[in-house]
Amino acid sequence: MKADYVWKNGEMLPWERAQVHVMSHALHYGSSVFEGVRAYEIREKSAIMCGPEHYERLLFSCKVARIPSPLSVGQWMEVTADTLRANGHRSAYIRPLVYRGLGPTMGLDGRGCPSEALLASMPWGAYLGEDALVQGVDVQVSSWRRSGSGAASTLAKIGGQYVNSQSIVMEARDNGMSEGIALDGNGLVSEGSGENVFIVCKKEIFTPSLSSSILCGITRNCVMRIARDLGYTVTEASVPREMLYLADEIFFTGTAVEVCPVRSVDRMPVGNGQRGPVTRAIQEIYFGIMRGTHPDKWNWLTHVSVPARQGAPA
Ligand SMILES: Cc1ncc(COP(=O)(O)O)c(C=O)c1O
Repeated sequence: MKADYVWKNGEMLPWERAQVHVMSHALHYGSSVFEGVRAYEIREKSAIMCGPEHYERLLFSCKVARIPSPLSVGQWMEVTADTLRANGHRSAYIRPLVYRGLGPTMGLDGRGCPSEALLASMPWGAYLGEDALVQGVDVQVSSWRRSGSGAASTLAKIGGQYVNSQSIVMEARDNGMSEGIALDGNGLVSEGSGENVFIVCKKEIFTPSLSSSILCGITRNCVMRIARDLGYTVTEASVPREMLYLADEIFFTGTAVEVCPVRSVDRMPVGNGQRGPVTRAIQEIYFGIMRGTHPDKWNWLTHVSVPARQGAPA
């Protein structure tokens, strides 16, 4: 993972010079908020997927964490386009981050620390592998519960909360699985370490509701729109764990993972263990929009011109 430039606090810095002080508050206490955004190459331009929605959520996370964002939604969009151009990236994973920097004291209340901001872009393929999008992934129900229920603000993407996500994914990988699905504090299905979960039972689609300690995923919202447009009933529900074993189809959604089928849970095949027709129909529309082969009927894409650069990944 490397790019030529990282935008930091108003400057486009060479990758090596984009550094933080070791005594920065965020490094010690997880006081950062971030987003994961994707841009796709469409007709020799870069198309940023749901950019304004991501930056609205970033500002929401800033509010919850009480770390002021130095930029507005529009300014974040401009910085995104500038960084894609500086790096010559048309297709990229984009990582904006706002964090508490080096302050006058070491205390937990870091509101005296400066609010710093950065944005990086990098080439990144399918999060769980290209094959996974067709073959599906093996997952386990995590022994780690999703932090939430008043102890963590799962609706906000706050850096420190992702230690919980790391425990979920590391345990799953140690057990030979691609990912873990965590239950919430009440034992209901919550989400993956960095993905929302959808369950298809007898052609009806269910996904855990916002009260199950999930992040309100932007891809989740897109997929609900696509599914309803295709005529499916989608219900945000309290999802008991057993539904994972009874489901005909399960799939993950997320900016990184996109729309990815799950083929087994706790070593039990989901349906017949192959990507099902509902997952496939939703993938066709989702990836069609990202590739520019399906109309962007909900205006999810912001097109940005990024001149081709020799030697740089497009
Ligand atoms: C914990 C968690 N759940 C779900 C998601 C999916 O959200 P989105 O579709 O907005 O990327 C993410 C990724 O940001 C995440 O970190």
